[in-house]
Amino acid sequence: MPKLSIIAFDGTRHDLEVQAGSTVMENAVRNSVPGIEAECGGACACATCHVYVDDEWSARVGAPEAMEEDMLDFAYDVKPTSRLSCQIKMSDGLDGLVVHVPERQA
Ligand code: FES
Repeated sequence: MPKLSIIAFDGTRHDLEVQAGSTVMENAVRNSVPGIEAECGGACACATCHVYVDDEWSARVGAPEAMEEDMLDFAYDVKPTSRLSCQIKMSDGLDGLVVHVPERQA
């Protein structure tokens, strides 16, 4: 099972073991990580699951697709490493992934 670390805005680190195929958002919600609201339930239609992919992982996770990029326009304080966590699917290739929760959602 791939490992996923989600760093909350207050610096609290949530180290999780997750199912391949699950999304970062699903794991954040399931584990009550604060700051991930995910109002649309993962449909790429709300931008309240915004995270920053850790610099070390950004290239491996890759860039958002067009629809996600459009939704990111509605997110708060978007940076080059911004992604919507419902659009990042965990896999063995992302074992050890680290993401950071922003100060607030849109
Ligand atoms: S949960 Fe709504 S865009 Fe990700």
